[in-house]
Amino acid sequence: MDHRAEIEWSVRMRQLKNLLTIPFLGLILLLAVAAQTELKGAEPSPTNALPATLDRQEVEFFEKKIRPVLVSQCYSCHSTGAKEVQGKLLLDSRVALLAGGETGPAIVVGDPKKSLLIQALRHEGLEMPPKKKLPAETIADFERWVSRGAIDPRVASAAAVPVKKEIDWSAARAFWSFQPITKPTPPTVKDTAWPRSDIDRFLLAKLEEQKLEPAADAERLTLLRRLSFDLTGLPPTPAEVAAFMSDTSGDATAKLVDRLLASPQFGEHWGRHWLDVARYAESNGNVDNFLFPHAWRYRDYVIAAINADKPLDRFMTEQVAGDLLPAADAQERNNLVTATGFLALTSKPRPQNNPDYALDLVAEQIEVTTTAFMGLTVACARCHDHKFDPIPQREYYSLAGIFESSRMLHGDGGNKNNNNKNVPKSGLHTLTSDKPAQASKDDKDKQLVAKVAELRKEETAARTELEQLIDGAKKEFFAAEGKALNNKIKNPQNVKQREKLLQRIEQNLNVEQKQRLNQLKGRLVKLEEQLHGGGNGEATGGFAMGMADADKPVTGRIRIRGETQKPGDTVPRGFVTVGSIGKPLEVSSTHSGRLELAQWITSPENPLTARVMANRIWRHLFGRGIVSTVDNFGTLGEKPTHPELLDHLATQLVANKWSLKSTIRSIVLSRAYQLSSAHDAHAMEIDPDNTLVWRHSLRRLEGESIRDSILLVAGELKLTPPTGSPVSKDGNIEVRNGKDREFSRFEFDHRSIYLPLVRNAEPELLVTFDLPDTELSVGDRSVTTVPAQSLFLLNSPWVIKNAQALTARVFAHKNTDVDARIDYAYQLALARSPRPEETANLRSYLSSSTSTASADSEQRQAWVRACQAIFASTEFRYVE
Ligand code: HEC
Ligand code: HEC
Repeated sequence: MDHRAEIEWSVRMRQLKNLLTIPFLGLILLLAVAAQTELKGAEPSPTNALPATLDRQEVEFFEKKIRPVLVSQCYSCHSTGAKEVQGKLLLDSRVALLAGGETGPAIVVGDPKKSLLIQALRHEGLEMPPKKKLPAETIADFERWVSRGAIDPRVASAAAVPVKKEIDWSAARAFWSFQPITKPTPPTVKDTAWPRSDIDRFLLAKLEEQKLEPAADAERLTLLRRLSFDLTGLPPTPAEVAAFMSDTSGDATAKLVDRLLASPQFGEHWGRHWLDVARYAESNGNVDNFLFPHAWRYRDYVIAAINADKPLDRFMTEQVAGDLLPAADAQERNNLVTATGFLALTSKPRPQNNPDYALDLVAEQIEVTTTAFMGLTVACARCHDHKFDPIPQREYYSLAGIFESSRMLHGDGGNKNNNNKNVPKSGLHTLTSDKPAQASKDDKDKQLVAKVAELRKEETAARTELEQLIDGAKKEFFAAEGKALNNKIKNPQNVKQREKLLQRIEQNLNVEQKQRLNQLKGRLVKLEEQLHGGGNGEATGGFAMGMADADKPVTGRIRIRGETQKPGDTVPRGFVTVGSIGKPLEVSSTHSGRLELAQWITSPENPLTARVMANRIWRHLFGRGIVSTVDNFGTLGEKPTHPELLDHLATQLVANKWSLKSTIRSIVLSRAYQLSSAHDAHAMEIDPDNTLVWRHSLRRLEGESIRDSILLVAGELKLTPPTGSPVSKDGNIEVRNGKDREFSRFEFDHRSIYLPLVRNAEPELLVTFDLPDTELSVGDRSVTTVPAQSLFLLNSPWVIKNAQALTARVFAHKNTDVDARIDYAYQLALARSPRPEETANLRSYLSSSTSTASADSEQRQAWVRACQAIFASTEFRYVE
């Protein structure tokens, strides 16, 4: 939050508090002010001006999806380097795009339909590029790009960071994040009485340098609410408030922290943080948006792992290579393969007419792996050496070799309806039943397992027969057509030709053979459906998305400009070298190398991983990372504000056996975490962004917490997790015909992490409150403040329903006195008592909106509006 927004916020906050003190003028005023208690600032507006700092997600989107197309498809006729510029239009800078050519501006920012460039791509009037229409998906990318503000770093960052022609290795090795992690000694501070821990010493030393004083300690009630939200995503209940406030022992806070860390709600809250990084979702998104009926198992794996405080190095290893780890029993095996869902949950591009399909999947796996664990944008080196970080293209393809030697098991999207026959069938992991061996149930399981084995046999037989049939036809065909053709078809680069030939060969079959061929094909589809169809497969233990090794590992191979059809040198499978200070691991010749990759990522010699993970934790407790670009520790990222503190935390994390809970515990018990968020004009002047942590930052709750809090306060929240996901009931169908609306408005009373998370149909409330893009790994959610958020809270029937439930709760309170009810409503919703003026005002509002004091239904109506206003208030949505 910048300085002005900050002041504005405190003014609004005061207004809000006043709102509950000045006489209530009824609903109109209430709603108007609630709508107004908004922070101005980050509202995206369709202007041509670029935001001062470019959104990382958007820049990456441009670099990966837009720039390469412009360069390869348009620059030859529309750039300063073109022999002759066509249509007087340049497409090599944003300014030029906005200026446009003969007809006018090429894009209207925020409005793809009105953008000439989009019309040209869609062949509406103009036809660009002139030779051939681009794939539907590419056009969709351009539309998305324009509607999201046409972010284009070709001016902004080129000036700021020089693009290097060649990698300067010695400079690269000197870059801060590639240095080995040090074990810094805590600095000496002047005010020795203040620090409670080393964390405090590192922070205080910097404050003293700037002659700043830390704010006072937060009030206990504030601290309780903060801890409760930060560790579980839920507010404290009145009983919890009472228990904490009456505990006068010296270690009351430590006990509270331990209780919160041990509650199952901890894993649900911190699991959601990880799901952002894992770009978790339950459908493919993109053009073919079919459901992933088994994705929820990965979600549940994450929650359970975090609740069990699984060491983070193990947690990471399992997600990259769980299928390659030994398992003690069937249950562990289930968990391990489910963990690899991390790599399979990606949104896949359309496979048809996409020769790069396999490489696109690999690119996404490289991106999520290196970003999530190491804060490195290795995926930028797919088409050219990384332009900013020391990652040559050949190292990208060393890493790619590891993923090319693996298989992604993402299910048979859409096959059930047969409307997606182009989506490759990939299978799934079959899980073993972990149900206790009940006699009858056990028999049933056994029967099912036997049935699956039988189906598999049948499948193999059908496949073999089919192959033999085609092989026979091939031989005949080539005997007639000659050897030259045979060579042609064998050349892996002639994909299309091969397909055509295959069709011709199949046409050569006689009637009987053709019949058999069709029979077999049909049989195979049916079998696969039965084997890993849409059902939950409850009895067998179900299915999970994930990874497996390919039959044989392949050698890595450079692809020029990232294109499959332009193979370059071969490269041995391996890792990026700049991040590994120790000896690089040798990749196994019999396996994909994912296990070695995981070991390399989590090795204590890897300077990035522990830093990145410690920083991710800090980010969620302070609202801002020590490295503010939590997903980018490279040249384009920010430098750490407290490098020594970061190394201290990273060292501690490793020393504490990568325990997430101990790391959180030591941070929240520091004095720095427990500061008040009070405003200070002097400190504000010197450090408006609070990078030095002179106080605690005010933070808006995440959408999940807002929804969960409303449910909890209304008395409606079910704390028991649901089994599976609403998505699994539908099988692997494609999301269309109103299904998207159904999912985005789906409601139940479980916590938000369990809502169906379908790409392009994400829950409305979460989207309104900044759910990140489910196609990208995001560790740093942005916080926008737009009128749509207040409007949502004021108009949503779901919010009104919960305001009614809260009213019912208030009316059921044993003390029916109005003041007592008001007090109870405040306790429930805001974890505090109302101030006397607040009580007086709400009382007068309630009596003024009822004609006769006894009219119970009118009373209730007035109460519902008051409860809704509380849900819509800033105080409800913020944690101090
Ligand atoms: C082979 C040359 C060539 C390539 C490649 C090409 N264009 Fe064009 N473009 C033209 C010509 C020629 C015109 C002038 C209009 C016409 O005669 O159709 C034009 C005009 C345009 C215009 C309208 C300009 C105006 O203001 O009238 C747009 C927009 C455009 N191109 C977009 C693109 C995009 C986007 C690409 C790449 C995806 C592309 N073009 C690739 C030749 C090309
Ligand atoms: C799918 C291929 C592809 C990917 C992935 C890709 N680029 Fe590029 N990029 C290109 C092409 C093609 C060019 C133009 C030719 C060149 O400079 O090599 C280019 C050019 C650039 C340039 C301009 C270089 C100059 O000399 O002015 C920058 C900067 C850049 N890319 C950054 C990135 C970043 C950062 C990423 C990752 C977020 C990325 N690229 C990912 C294909 C890609």
